[in-house]
Amino acid sequence: MPSIIPQAVDARLTRAAIFLVATLNDRADSKAAIRSLCADLSALVRGIGFRTLDGGLSCIMGIGADAWDRLFGQPTPKELHPFREIRGVHHAPATPGDLLFHIRAGRMDLCFEMATQIIARLGDAVSVTDEVHGFKYFDNRDLLGFVDGTENPVAQAAIDATLIGEEDPAFAGGSYVIVQKYLHDLAKWNAIPVEQQEKIIGRKKLSDIELDDAAKPSFAHNVLTTIEEGGQQLEILRDNMPFGDVGKGEFGTYFIGYSRSPSRIERMLKNMFVGEPPGNYDRLLDISHAVTGSLFFVPAATFLDDVATAATPASITAPETATGEAPPGTQTQSKLPCDGSLPIGSLKDEAGHE
Ligand code: HEM
Repeated sequence: MPSIIPQAVDARLTRAAIFLVATLNDRADSKAAIRSLCADLSALVRGIGFRTLDGGLSCIMGIGADAWDRLFGQPTPKELHPFREIRGVHHAPATPGDLLFHIRAGRMDLCFEMATQIIARLGDAVSVTDEVHGFKYFDNRDLLGFVDGTENPVAQAAIDATLIGEEDPAFAGGSYVIVQKYLHDLAKWNAIPVEQQEKIIGRKKLSDIELDDAAKPSFAHNVLTTIEEGGQQLEILRDNMPFGDVGKGEFGTYFIGYSRSPSRIERMLKNMFVGEPPGNYDRLLDISHAVTGSLFFVPAATFLDDVATAATPASITAPETATGEAPPGTQTQSKLPCDGSLPIGSLKDEAGHE
């Protein structure tokens, strides 16, 4: 049975990250350049990552809905669509994004080298529309001073939360990711008494202990972002990063959330921006302003590895060759097991992403 190796979506949280969002330029060679990078991405991570063995370099590549059509055609991941802006009590804008590179490592030099190599490879094929260099702040806190990431699922729960299974067999092992760049009004936040800040987040600031349910207001961030279906909590995996530019007075949180379905993150966003019930919105947004918003599909690593780099468009449904073998770029999809089982755990090490 052929194996599906996911991208390193659940890579350990790291001290440094670069988030690159790019749009495709309308050039004859754009598609070929990007497809060629897809096929070489895992080798690039290996080459750069091996220079610092304990650096933990990983790079996730995500592809937006419009770009997917241009790069790969049919079929399309079932739930892939452009990010939907939200106009509620606060505004979550949708901003352009065809490609996302989420580069993580224990050290910024590794992230920087990876980003440099990616952009050198893509050249004029893309324009970078947003580049954020994130860092871990004391005790994994965001710039609001709260520990961020505590309730993330780990191990098998992280895999279950993020990787597509039998609900979309052609894209099993893939994932969806939403990114949003938030800018904080720190002066306004710091003027709020700590006890009130804790009610806004739903946790203690110093100790990071969750408030008792009875002490949490209905608008607490961790109430509005806890969602259920059929009595089961629907989880996502976050790897938010602080970033900033002190000279410009810019202090932010780069939100990144992975999920096997974008609808989970979209429900959380609706709760935050519109409120649940409407009007009972997330008070974090009174001091945090979303300036970007994009949704991407994260194909399995095996999908990227198998992207055909020839000039001919790779159709995932392309017929088999005379030898009975699927053409390159169609292999993984045409031979995926349809029973929803993913031999993922045992294969993670082979991916060399972690
Ligand atoms: C300004 C941006 C944001 C900041 C500063 C922020 C900060 C935090 C903090 C401090 C926590 C508590 C610790 C933890 O469990 O990680 C938290 C929890 C959480 N956040 Fe956010 N967050 C932001 C945006 C978002 C967005 C946009 C979403 C989803 C659409 C989200 C989803 C969650 C979830 C699911 C939890 C865990 C809830 C639980 O199970 O207790 N966050 N966030």
